[in-house]
Amino acid sequence: MRDHMSSHSSDFQQALAREISRMLRSHVEIPPVNDQRLLDHVVGAGGSEEGFLSGGFLTAIGLVSALQMAGRPISSFRRILDFGCGSGRVTHWLRHLAGSADLTGADINPDAIAWCKENLAFGANFLCTGPTPPLPLANGGADLVYGVSVLTHLDEDFQFEWLEELHRVTAPDGLVVLTIHTDYKAAQALPPQEHASYRKQGFFYQRAPDHDKTLAGLPDFYQVAFHTHDYIADKWTRLFEPLLSVSHGPFWAQEAIVLRRKDSSAPRPRTSRWKRVKLPMGGLDTPGFGWRAQDSVQHVAGWALAPESGDPVDLTVWVDGKAAEMQCIEVRRDDVSAAFPDIPHTGNAGFMLNVELPDNDHGFHVIWFTAGDSPVPVSATYMTRQSS
Ligand SMILES: C[S@@+](CC[C@H](N)C(=O)[O-])C[C@H]1O[C@@H](n2cnc3c(N)ncnc32)[C@H](O)[C@@H]1O
Repeated sequence: MRDHMSSHSSDFQQALAREISRMLRSHVEIPPVNDQRLLDHVVGAGGSEEGFLSGGFLTAIGLVSALQMAGRPISSFRRILDFGCGSGRVTHWLRHLAGSADLTGADINPDAIAWCKENLAFGANFLCTGPTPPLPLANGGADLVYGVSVLTHLDEDFQFEWLEELHRVTAPDGLVVLTIHTDYKAAQALPPQEHASYRKQGFFYQRAPDHDKTLAGLPDFYQVAFHTHDYIADKWTRLFEPLLSVSHGPFWAQEAIVLRRKDSSAPRPRTSRWKRVKLPMGGLDTPGFGWRAQDSVQHVAGWALAPESGDPVDLTVWVDGKAAEMQCIEVRRDDVSAAFPDIPHTGNAGFMLNVELPDNDHGFHVIWFTAGDSPVPVSATYMTRQSS
């Protein structure tokens, strides 16, 4: 555990806690998605309702944190597009913004959009869109566009068409956040010959096996794509300037790239350097997502590991944006070692500690942990507790 954090980081955590508190206070229980195919598309094969809620919450926190790190808090945007929103897994966590921003979710899957229209009537506009541009949005019609796990599925031609289109619909100086599969996922998923091609070309598009449930029922063009950083720096910078990227943590095996829309006539920078936040992968097992706390002391248990090295990770646990002061115990986690056989030194990946839940007037508490000097949460959960 770290003894102290810089005030910058502490300010960041408190601002994040305020945003998440707004998110939780406007949260209402949504009906179960109740359609395994829709869950498989966005949560992964065999995805559960709980995974839909907790994964969407964590991704929303990742998005909010990345934007805050880029100096553009999510509440500063007025027209937000969730490109490839699926069943609104992330969109519905942004309900608290609906009073101040126009929220639009667009997806090519009519079933997912029908579900959103029927079950997420909080003021967002859900659109079923075509597989190729254009989107029914005016030029510069959005000042923030995010696409979680969409560019991870398109071939290179579709990717360029959609990058052009996202550039068109993004306002001057607007931001676009896109997630990609990069080196970690490519090393896991690609056989040696394909991996060598990925390294050489910087981009690889793989046909997923027929039994892959995460793609079932979606169009044939929807497969699996991988990008290197050099490729992004080379091919995307005509349209966008990468500001920062966040790998793993809330984005699990993916990496989120925060891009600023460029005026396409501006000269391309000779080199493109962006801030890279490399997080471990990790999770919180206790408290479970949305648990009701019985008293003010809460047991917290989780795990984290650095995927590239397996090196021990220096963690801080935060409760409602304040660093927990109690001691953290490292724990052997054979289940984590078994789940990540390719990563060395996973033995003591676990941690546990007890934290104090402060009293507040709304009863929501959010717990997350960060790694090293990065302020972006690796994993997060929330719970409720009525004040005594
Ligand atoms: C892995 S899912 C992720 C959904 C959602 N972003 C989330 O994180 O829960 C990818 C989604 O992208 C959608 N999609 C793929 N190509 C698209 C396109 N060109 N325009 C809009 N949506 C697209 C798919 O239908 C699918 O719902």
